[in-house]
Amino acid sequence: MSRHDAQALILAAGKGTRMKSARAKALHPLLGVPLLEHVLRAVQGVGVEPVTVVVGHQADGIEAAFAGRGLAFVRQEPPLGTGHAVQAARELIAAGRARTLLAVNGDLPLLRSQTLAALLDAHRRGGGAATLLSVVLEDPAEYGRVLREADGSVRAIVEARDATAEQKRIPEINAGVYAFDVDRLLEVLGQLRPQNAQGEFYLTDVVGLLRAAGRQVGAMTAADGREGLGVNSHAELASAARLLRARRCAELMAAGVAIEDPETTFVGLDAEVEADALLRPFTLLEGRTRVAAGAMVGPFARLVDTTVGRGAQVLDHCLLRECVVEAEASVGPFAHVRPESRIGVKAKVGNFVELKKTRLGEGSKAPHLSYIGDATVGPGVNIGAGTITCNYDGVHKHPTRIEAGAFIGSDTTLVAPVTIGEGAYIAAGSAITEDVPAGALALGRARQVVKPGWAEARRQKAGAAKGPRGEQG
Ligand code: UD1
Ligand code: MG
Repeated sequence: MSRHDAQALILAAGKGTRMKSARAKALHPLLGVPLLEHVLRAVQGVGVEPVTVVVGHQADGIEAAFAGRGLAFVRQEPPLGTGHAVQAARELIAAGRARTLLAVNGDLPLLRSQTLAALLDAHRRGGGAATLLSVVLEDPAEYGRVLREADGSVRAIVEARDATAEQKRIPEINAGVYAFDVDRLLEVLGQLRPQNAQGEFYLTDVVGLLRAAGRQVGAMTAADGREGLGVNSHAELASAARLLRARRCAELMAAGVAIEDPETTFVGLDAEVEADALLRPFTLLEGRTRVAAGAMVGPFARLVDTTVGRGAQVLDHCLLRECVVEAEASVGPFAHVRPESRIGVKAKVGNFVELKKTRLGEGSKAPHLSYIGDATVGPGVNIGAGTITCNYDGVHKHPTRIEAGAFIGSDTTLVAPVTIGEGAYIAAGSAITEDVPAGALALGRARQVVKPGWAEARRQKAGAAKGPRGEQG
């Protein structure tokens, strides 16, 4: 059920020339998701439908990235301007049931659903042929300027490149978001002409055309000018990222999350953090990362698609990806936990330890300098410093099993496939190539040989060979 009786059109066919990138502007990542995703979420949050996206530059890539999202796509090839983009969707718009069109530039990542909803409300109340969203900026830069009549209605939008010096001083700019009465729009859409500095069909010229046809155009000014930030360059992408990060951290702090330094903390759009979790400086939570109450992450930690349980700790300088850290477990400092790993309740992964596809049972410990891969480790196991699972024979990966309560001495190599039985002991420095039964002690190393007095004898022999004056013999 749609809250607003409107159809939506997102313009995303532009090349993004100012990005100077081979990648389509819509696909540049921002807080872990494509730029277009931010706009799409804002639009979908209003409950309008259908949502159509105009694509042109790298259309296949954009359609693939947003497949299965219930969107309609229209091709604009080649893209000849924002007005031309709407012309490309003309038939779809005309056929749409809703007689209001919400048209949104695809490069506005700070736009919020409530602002779009307010624009649609203002449009309905105003009763004009179109209502555009404006913002007032200290530095209106390259944005289109809004020219108002004495009665406050909108006379025209003039692009910065086509503006007079006087018009350029107008601080109110066109945000690139419009509510149109569909029938009025279609009456003038065909009249756009590319007679401007860029030789493009400007959607903004529709305003002047509507006025010439005797229609009214209104504008709603967004309270927060940041919502009008358009991303046209890498510098603007970075500004948007900074603002979005700050907004995300502010939301989380308002909900009870402790963030020591929001300026250096990155919480992706789809990451979730519970109240009373603590994020220390330079922490990055990416993808579908979850951090539970009482957990602490950072400083300098990067977690991707990772779940951190209640009261767990991920200490300084860790990288964790697609793994689970259960309640009250501890990871780091300087640990690398790779996909499909699960660190059990109260388990410990210490410094310079790498885990891959490994389950570490409750209370088990790998405190120092280890590589544990393709392993299943039961509860209460102690893995000594420098232990390595040799899981790869150059062709295949093999599993290691370490059962409950086993003790693996320091500097052990476990040549997989191999199983260490419950409660077994492995002597330090062993190379273990065969299974060890439960309760056994295994030694896989050469016995130490001690030769008393050997060192002194060697020195004397060396001295004799040199002769009394140190000459070579
Ligand atoms: C546009 C507005 C400007 C406004 C600014 C707000 C016009 C002519 N100008 O300028 O008044 O202040 O946005 O950010 O509309 N696109 C297409 N097909 C095209 C060209 C563009 O789909 O042929 C899409 C782009 O992918 C982009 C959006 O339309 O998402 C806006 O295009 P862009 O080139 O960024 O316009 P601006 O110069 O920013
Ligand atoms: Mg733009």
